[in-house]
Amino acid sequence: MTKPLLTAATLALAVGAAVSHAEDTIDEPWEARALIKAFATSLQGELKGAMAEGGPVCAIQVCKEEAPAIAADLSQRSEWQIGRTSLKTRNGARNAPDAWETNVLEQFESRQRNGESPKGMTYAEVVTMDDGKVYRHMQAIPTGQVCVACHGARIAPELAEAIDAAYPEDQARGYKAGDIRGAFTLSKPM
Ligand code: HEC
Repeated sequence: MTKPLLTAATLALAVGAAVSHAEDTIDEPWEARALIKAFATSLQGELKGAMAEGGPVCAIQVCKEEAPAIAADLSQRSEWQIGRTSLKTRNGARNAPDAWETNVLEQFESRQRNGESPKGMTYAEVVTMDDGKVYRHMQAIPTGQVCVACHGARIAPELAEAIDAAYPEDQARGYKAGDIRGAFTLSKPM
């Protein structure tokens, strides 16, 4: 799989947004959303392609390698740190939430219980960290039907075996379509 990670168009959109409005705090949610869109679009494209070509066992590789590669690429070309997190991680070493993220993920769960759709659910705040003020932004990731193959309650045996081998500490199972699987998490120094 050596396709370009991002199409020129999505990247230009996201990065143009992130760079040209760097000083203008009003645009920050907009920048974050553009980056999330670029991330989600390329990830979903890669995932669908890999599932169709090589099946879900092969697609594990996409989630394992392309997801962080796309995130790193977007982070490098913008002023944002971008990643994914969850209350129940598959790759805890890479994606475990910090205290602020845990709080927001719990808040997303309770907003969903109170009737809000997780689609487009976001939360943003300026947080004072050790090294200064940081703008932090999270957006919920709803579980889609395609996700259940690898994150659902009944994972095909050969797939479960491959996941167990790669992620012995996996917690990211038992999800149904519509559940909040996790969130995109972005931050930018102010
Ligand atoms: C082919 C199997 C597969 C499918 C299908 C899949 N995932 Fe994953 N998912 C993984 C793997 C493997 C990881 C661990 C990635 C890593 O190592 O960072 C992961 C990690 C994640 C994470 C990061 C947090 C964590 O648990 O470590 C999120 C969020 C996530 N997946 C959401 C989704 C969503 C939403 C879908 C459907 C659009 C989906 N996944 C479909 C295999 C899959």
